Amino acid sequence: MTTKRAFVLGHPVSHSRSPMLHGHWLALHAIDGSYETKDVAPDAVSDFISGMRAEGWAGGNVTIPHKLAVMRYCDRIDDAAQQLGAVNTLWFEDGQLVGGNTDWIGLVGNLDEQAPGWDDDARNAVILGAGGAARAAIYGMLKRGLSVQVVNRTVEKARELAGHFGSQVSAHGTDETEVLLADADLLINTTSLGMKGQPPLEIDLSGLKEGAVVYDVIYVPLETALLKQAAAKGHRTVDGLGMLLHQAVDGFEHWFGVRPEVTPELRQLIIDDLVAKGQAG
Ligand code: ATR
Repeated sequence: MTTKRAFVLGHPVSHSRSPMLHGHWLALHAIDGSYETKDVAPDAVSDFISGMRAEGWAGGNVTIPHKLAVMRYCDRIDDAAQQLGAVNTLWFEDGQLVGGNTDWIGLVGNLDEQAPGWDDDARNAVILGAGGAARAAIYGMLKRGLSVQVVNRTVEKARELAGHFGSQVSAHGTDETEVLLADADLLINTTSLGMKGQPPLEIDLSGLKEGAVVYDVIYVPLETALLKQAAAKGHRTVDGLGMLLHQAVDGFEHWFGVRPEVTPELRQLIIDDLVAKGQAG
């Protein structure tokens, strides 16, 4: 049997944690396979993708700055990647190269794991931010039947998203946050505010609906000031590390034929690496 190979395609790509987590699963399942970083400049992406079959790649992940560029070389784009406007996973299906986006699966899978039952009777999700992570969050919430209120400093960007995703999504300026929180079943921060080295996220959770779950997609630090404030008020909290782990599950299954699990051991492996590299916040 030939060795199955997968990649993470980026530029630069050396910082990626994907080799560590896929390497963990390959070893755990004793699979004859590899997961390699491919640092490819923008002008060489076309050649790389068209050479995938000949080079024996089963597929791979795509990261910055190629998430949009690879789309034109795919034979098919899945619905999520179309809606999010970005591909993060490539695989072959019936000989066709498929471009998909699993970020929303990571986001929702992480919620299911860390806050089981979060969507029982949940109606409203307030999402802070209007970038790529916000798109994944909106898509995931709509899939689970929630309405979404997008809050962004630049309200025009929130309006664009609301226009794109339809009538279940509304756009708001930061000044409306408090009013929205009173009726929120879920609060998700997708901005970079509160990340190590970034300005703090200024938000007052005192009016947040009782029982609401608070989710920060940031994982450096693991427990952001937002999550601390929420936990102190008795809310269930979800950190961003699980999103990174869960978004990888489908890709691994496509390339290597085994559906891997997100376990406490895997989570600890990545936390240890964050600590070792001084990135734990
Ligand atoms: P990603 O793709 O990771 O989601 P992004 O596209 O750069 O990242 O989006 C970053 C988000 O954080 C945006 O919603 C941005 O708000 P603007 O659209 O107004 O720029 C938000 N953000 C970043 N810095 C901010 C700040 N200092 N104050 C308020 N919002 C900020």
